[in-house]
Amino acid sequence: MLSTKMIKSLNEQIAMEGYASFLYLSKAGWFEGKTMQGCASFMYRQAQEENEHMMKIFHYLVEMDAIPVVPAIKQPPAQFKDVKAVFADTLAHEQKVTKAINDLVELAMKEGDHATYGFLQWYVAEQREEEGLMRSILDKINLIGNGSQSLYFIDKEIESLNKATLKAESAGE
Ligand code: FEO
Repeated sequence: MLSTKMIKSLNEQIAMEGYASFLYLSKAGWFEGKTMQGCASFMYRQAQEENEHMMKIFHYLVEMDAIPVVPAIKQPPAQFKDVKAVFADTLAHEQKVTKAINDLVELAMKEGDHATYGFLQWYVAEQREEEGLMRSILDKINLIGNGSQSLYFIDKEIESLNKATLKAESAGE
């Protein structure tokens, strides 16, 4: 049985993952406006993934006989300074999510809640992957450059990265 505090905290995480999904969707829209289809596709896929992160917690609460709360999602920003700023913001946001997941893990340990501790390990691994991915993209942008001449090449890089991720996902990796 989950503690009241754990149920509240997991519901807050539902809201955070939901916001992350909307934030990625907003970034997809921004890239569409720049006709950077590779980056837009990447952001759509990330938005979908975040929705799945949210739903995983939702179903976990149901499984544990607790009531999941569908959150109000605040409006994400629609404008960004430039491509590098979009990915820098993405990394910063993923780091914020990692902190929230770590706080949940600590709460589970403190409460001796082994079921939730085990459930959260998937998120710990996922956050490590997501942060690593965003860091590698920022490294690439730093190499290629962030000026208008470089946008085509950045878009191609992200497009191939996105295709590789999709292929790995469909292969069940
Ligand atoms: Fe579900 Fe990328 O945090």
